[in-house]
Amino acid sequence: MNDQYRASPKDGIAWVTGASSGIGRGTVLELARRGYTVIATARRLPELQTLVDEAGPLAGRVIAAIGDVTDALGMEQLVARLEQEYGEIVLAFLNAGIYFPLRAQPFDAAGFRKTFDVNVYGTINGLAALLPRMAERGRGQIALNASVAGYGGLPRAAAYSGSKAALIAMAESLKFDTDLLGLTLQIVNPGFVETPLTALNDHPMPFLMTLDEASRRICDGFEKGGFEITFPKRLALILKALNMLPYSVYFSLIAKATGWTGKAD
Ligand SMILES: NC(=O)c1ccc[n+]([C@@H]2O[C@H](COP(=O)([O-])OP(=O)(O)OC[C@H]3O[C@@H](n4cnc5c(N)ncnc54)[C@H](OP(=O)(O)O)[C@@H]3O)[C@@H](O)[C@H]2O)c1
Repeated sequence: MNDQYRASPKDGIAWVTGASSGIGRGTVLELARRGYTVIATARRLPELQTLVDEAGPLAGRVIAAIGDVTDALGMEQLVARLEQEYGEIVLAFLNAGIYFPLRAQPFDAAGFRKTFDVNVYGTINGLAALLPRMAERGRGQIALNASVAGYGGLPRAAAYSGSKAALIAMAESLKFDTDLLGLTLQIVNPGFVETPLTALNDHPMPFLMTLDEASRRICDGFEKGGFEITFPKRLALILKALNMLPYSVYFSLIAKATGWTGKAD
């Protein structure tokens, strides 16, 4: 693992998807603080523009561009244009994701599709745009934002947990190849972080972390390397351990920890 590629602002630029709010926004600012030229993409341009303004005094620079991760061709064209204008993308954080509660009754198949479209296929579209270019150059670092919710199914999160579990398994599998290509592939599994996505949660969120702290941990993980970036460690370890227990114990402990009562929302 010592010869694993670690991106640096000297080598090229960084790209973060889902950068108009929350973890994406925080990570863009932290990367700019560490000297990167960062391309910040999302669908809402006004939010990206305030991010560019906020990054003004930082060591690096932020460039805003509109990008919907569900548009496969759009992602490919965006990456081609960005590399032509600003140079090689050496670090990409495929972060865009959505969450809304989904349960068995009523079963909202469209909600499942929407979640998988953004969280899974949106990430795949980013990978499809980046991997051939990075593979040809033999260098590049890509991190996918999954979640500790992908370790196992959580209540009200059938689509979300499922989509994040897909990302984790996908990254584990791809790593065998990316290692051979000289690329660094990482999976980011945050616990609860204070963002607009979690602001609406009315269930307990143990070890809730501030956005600034989470953004620092993510960027430290980019610099340190290794496959998984996860925090808070205590929560990740507890959830990993729960997943090794018999299901009867798993379901009852998860219900207790998340305040699950089974009542209608
Ligand atoms: N907050 C947490 O506790 C937590 C924990 C674990 C993992 N995560 C993961 O972290 C990532 C960011 O979540 P967050 O909490 O920061 O949520 P957030 O504040 O709601 O941010 C979500 C970002 O995704 C973007 N996005 C949504 N649909 C998109 C699309 N079709 N194309 C491009 N961008 C799109 C949004 O931008 P636009 O609407 O402008 O497009 C926004 O910038 C997600 O993948 C989430 O699953 C969050």
